[in-house]
Amino acid sequence: MSTIDYSSKIPNNVNLADDRALQRALEAWRPDFLSWWADMGPDGARDFDVYLRTATSVDPQGWATFGHVKMPDYRWGIFLHPADPGRKIHFGDHKGEDAWQDVPGEYRANLRRIIVTQGDTEPASVEQQRHLGLTCPSQYDLRNLFQVNVEEGRHLWAMVYLLHKFFGRDGRDEGEALLQRRSGQADNPRILQAFNEPTPDWLSFFLFTYFTDRDGKFQLCALAESSFDPLARTTRFMLTEEAHHMFVGESGVSRVIQRTCQVMNELRTDDPRTLREAGVIDLPTLQRYLNFHFSVTIDLFGADESSNAATFYSTGLKGRYEEGKRDDDHRLRDRSYTVLHAQDGRLLERQVPMLNALNEVLRDDYIKDSIGGVERWNKVIDKAGIALRLKVPHKAFHRNIGALAGVKVSPDGQVVSEAEWNARRNEWLPSDDDRAFVASLMGRVVEPGRFAHWIAPPAMGINRQPVDFEYVRFG
Ligand SMILES: [Fe+2]
Ligand SMILES: [Fe+2]
Repeated sequence: MSTIDYSSKIPNNVNLADDRALQRALEAWRPDFLSWWADMGPDGARDFDVYLRTATSVDPQGWATFGHVKMPDYRWGIFLHPADPGRKIHFGDHKGEDAWQDVPGEYRANLRRIIVTQGDTEPASVEQQRHLGLTCPSQYDLRNLFQVNVEEGRHLWAMVYLLHKFFGRDGRDEGEALLQRRSGQADNPRILQAFNEPTPDWLSFFLFTYFTDRDGKFQLCALAESSFDPLARTTRFMLTEEAHHMFVGESGVSRVIQRTCQVMNELRTDDPRTLREAGVIDLPTLQRYLNFHFSVTIDLFGADESSNAATFYSTGLKGRYEEGKRDDDHRLRDRSYTVLHAQDGRLLERQVPMLNALNEVLRDDYIKDSIGGVERWNKVIDKAGIALRLKVPHKAFHRNIGALAGVKVSPDGQVVSEAEWNARRNEWLPSDDDRAFVASLMGRVVEPGRFAHWIAPPAMGINRQPVDFEYVRFG
C-alpha cells in the first residue's frame, strides 16, 4: 500500500484504523508530542505559513507535495516503505530465514535499545536547532530549517510507532521518555553526546546537517537491513527524507565558501582579519568548524571494538551499510579488520575480529562518503582561483569514544603532547573568539530574495520556485 490515508487524525499507510488499541495509544501520545513541539520546536514560529513538502505516498517517485502549511498543522504521520512479502534475512546467524514481522522475544531488549537510541536523536536535533529561525540568513534558508525540523519530528513518530506497536507497556514508557529528555540538559540529557552539543549559529547548522545528518543516513542504512522487517521498512522511508537534510548542509556550506571566495578576490586578500572585517567567514575558521563537527560526529559510531556491535550483527538486528551489495559470506566469523590505537607516541594498526569492529567498519564507510562533499566544496574554492583546500581531519583527531578517546592527535594524524595540544588547540578547533565572530554575523534576513552578507544565494529555489519566492508567510 503506497498511498497515505490523510483522512484520519494520524496520517498513515499502516492501516492504523484496523488496530484500535494501537490507534488509541498513538492518539494519546499525540498531544504530548504537540506540547513538546510547542515548547521545544522552532522558537517563535507558531503562526508562520511555511512552504513545506509533505509525504503523500511512499513511492520513490513523487511522494512529496509542496504547499504553505501552518507549522503546528503539519501532518506528522506513520509511513513505511512498501512490504516485500518474500523478504529473507540476508546476514548473520539467521541468514536465509524469513524476515521477522514481529519481535523475537530473545532480541526484544536489544531491538528496543536500538530503536530508542535512534529515536532519541530526532527530537534532540529539533531542540538543538530551535533558536536558529531568529537569525536566519534568508527566507529560503528559514524554510529549509523548518523542513528539516518537521521531518525530524516525523522521524520521532516513526520510532514511536514501532515502540507502541511492538513493545507494549515498555514501548509506551519509552515513547514518553523520548519527549522528556532534553538536548544539553544536565539532569536528563539526550542519549548521544553529539546531540547535546548546541547548534548556536547557521555555520554550525550547515555543518551539522552535512556531517551529523549523514551519520543518521548511515545508521538508518544499517537498520534498513534489519531482519525485523517493520524496522527495515520504517528506516527505508526515513532515508528518503534524510537526503534533503544533507543537501541543506552541503549547499549551505558551499554558499558560505562561494561568498567568502568572492570577497577574497574582490579585496585580493586571504588575511582572516581583513575578511572578518569585510563580514565574511574566513576559510581557516570554516576548517576549524569542519574539524569540530567531523570529529564529534564520528564518535557517534561508538567504540572501535564492541561486542554489542558483533551481537547486533550476528543476531540480524543491524546490518552493514549496503549489506546486500557486498560479496562476502555475510556472517564474517573468520574475517578481521584494522583498528587504530596509540602507543609510545604513535598511532598503530591492529587486526581484530571483524564482527567486533563493525562500528569501525560503518565509521570508515561514513568517512569515505563524507569526503565527497568536501571535495565538491574544494571545487568551489578552486573555481575562484584560490589555492587553499579544506580537508577532513584524521579519524584519530579529537576523539572521545573508543581506543582513541583522549589521545592528543593533530588533524594530520600526529600524536602530540598535552602541551602542544593546548598551544595549538585554537588552530584546530573553533575558539571562543571564532564562535563569537560567527555569532556576530548572525542577523535575521527575511525579505524575499534577500540574503545575509556572509552567504551567497542558492543556484535554484525549492521545488523549482524562484529564489525570491515567498517561502514563509509571517502571521
Ligand atoms: Fe532524522
Ligand atoms: Fe535528518
